[in-house]
Amino acid sequence: MQSYADNDYPTDHKPDWKVISGLWPYLAEFRGRVVLALALLVLAKLATVATPVALKYIVDYLDQNRGADMLLWIPLVLVVGYGSLRFGATLFSELRDAVFARVAERAMRRVSLRIFEHLHQRELGFHLDRKTGGLARDIERGTNGISFLLRFTLFNIVPTILEILLVAGILLVVFNVGYVLAILVAVVVYVVFSIRITEWRTKFVREANARDNQSNSRAIDSLLNYETVKYFNNERYEAQLYDQNLDDWEQARLKNRLSLATLNAGQALIIGVAMIVIMAMAVGEVASGEITLGDFTMINAYLLQLFIPLNALGFVYREIRQALVNVERLFKLLGDEPAIQDAAGATELVVASAEVQFDHIHFAYRPDRPILQDVNFSIPAGHTVAVVGASGAGKSTLARLLFRFYDVDQGSIRIDGQDIRQVTQASLRSVIGVVPQDTVLFNDTLYRNLAYGNPAASEEQVHRAARMAHLEDFIHSLPDGYATKVGERGLKLSGGEKQRVAIARVILKNPPLLILDEATSSLDSLSEQAILGALKEVSQQRTTLVIAHRLSTIRDANTILVMDGGRIVESGSHNELLAAGGHYAHLWEQQHRSEDNSQLSQ
Ligand SMILES: Nc1ncnc2c1ncn2[C@@H]1O[C@H](COP(=O)(O)OP(=O)(O)OP(=O)(O)O)[C@@H](O)[C@H]1O
Ligand SMILES: [Mg+2]
Repeated sequence: MQSYADNDYPTDHKPDWKVISGLWPYLAEFRGRVVLALALLVLAKLATVATPVALKYIVDYLDQNRGADMLLWIPLVLVVGYGSLRFGATLFSELRDAVFARVAERAMRRVSLRIFEHLHQRELGFHLDRKTGGLARDIERGTNGISFLLRFTLFNIVPTILEILLVAGILLVVFNVGYVLAILVAVVVYVVFSIRITEWRTKFVREANARDNQSNSRAIDSLLNYETVKYFNNERYEAQLYDQNLDDWEQARLKNRLSLATLNAGQALIIGVAMIVIMAMAVGEVASGEITLGDFTMINAYLLQLFIPLNALGFVYREIRQALVNVERLFKLLGDEPAIQDAAGATELVVASAEVQFDHIHFAYRPDRPILQDVNFSIPAGHTVAVVGASGAGKSTLARLLFRFYDVDQGSIRIDGQDIRQVTQASLRSVIGVVPQDTVLFNDTLYRNLAYGNPAASEEQVHRAARMAHLEDFIHSLPDGYATKVGERGLKLSGGEKQRVAIARVILKNPPLLILDEATSSLDSLSEQAILGALKEVSQQRTTLVIAHRLSTIRDANTILVMDGGRIVESGSHNELLAAGGHYAHLWEQQHRSEDNSQLSQ
């Protein structure tokens, strides 16, 4: 199994530079802005490169006219020009950022939305397999990666190269080729050194990040298990485990720091040596009168200026590599096709009487473990069919297949004669109401959770549904009433309360077809009886598939199917099945005995 840590920093993976081409659509959306930003970039660089030239003229003028009658306004104008150029360089690059910000932010927004929609398109199987934490990190890193790539390749690498070329051009025109060569050699050595050391350092950075994730996950897992820790008095043990992780983290961060120091020191050394060599060349030429003092100042200014963007090069290079990998993962995620899709030319499901037919279906979640075998039954319009059977027999699977969370392997499921694979998923799902076996709620108010069944419903309708699901008393007992927050996944409600919310939602949705999967299993017998009454009312005139463990709740069903090991082993009405004296009669006998016993003991 891949651990969290490996998952998080896949830097070993060679980045695929082709990913960059996937970014074009995001740039193309704002062509005008991109061009404007590039124009501002060129202006900023021109101003940067011109600044040392202005400095040269100031120094030369002052130097050559020292002691003589100097026209003070000339150097003053030059100084103003010098200052303006410096300001211009910053102004243009800030403007460029401002202009480009919209492009990068919009790209992040577009990608986030695309991913979100794509994830909702994916089949249930994908979501059962995913690791939410890891997926969320992939998405976050991927979207950040896109923004980083857009901003840094365009506005760090390209401009740095542009600046080096401009400076080399000026040096070539003003001085001789010796300076250009010296600077180019320095730049090449600097770049090669930075990239090499950065690659060497990557493992320390990765290690530090992995340890960071690890200790974080450890702390979070421990806090999530707060109650369990208390049950076993294991605070000290937890602290020790956490501290071990922290120890690893400390070591990794230390190595990271030291290697960063090596990088910085090495870079400074290269700059220092380059400075010495080039300035020494210039000293000789000033002494022999070949170049002026102003030229000397200019070279110095160029050297200082040139290495500033290069300083960040190691960081930018590493981040770009990482961003490429992250974006590639994101694009790959987007490229995966959902396993359940609307067929080409799928039509809308037309429901007349809502008759459901399971026609000799076979199904397996995994090829090596068949679940349903030759299941064949139909639910006539307006009838209720109940499915009973041992845990794991495949009852909920029937419901998932009808809802088309999965496609059957053989046979077909039809509603009013239409194969559910030939109609759109949206039209299919709009006619089915499900009360699932485990209800999970949104971390929102009770009212919003109820209204989810039909966001267009009026307050009156929502309250009516709550009443029908016997939630009114409970809601009135809450200090915040309908505005009560239900907590993450609805954990602040009891199991029975959640089930009643699920029932109210389905009442609001008001579909012609109902699936009740153990809809009342978490209720006490009194509430159960009351709700069964309500459910009966709702399921009247509707085609209903009921799944239940407690046989007393389904004895009125038109037909009862008994499932065992993925097959239907018996079917008939309650009385027929009792009379047959088979599986069902046996189950009924058993449940009755235990119910009698529990009543006696009360
Ligand atoms: N996504 C899945 N991947 C693989 N196997 C699964 C998956 N979902 C369910 N199963 C298996 O399929 C079998 C049938 O599951 P199902 O949920 O239909 O049982 P059930 O009859 O509803 O049981 P219960 O009464 O406990 O709810 C079980 O053995 C279960 O382990
Ligand atoms: Mg089930």
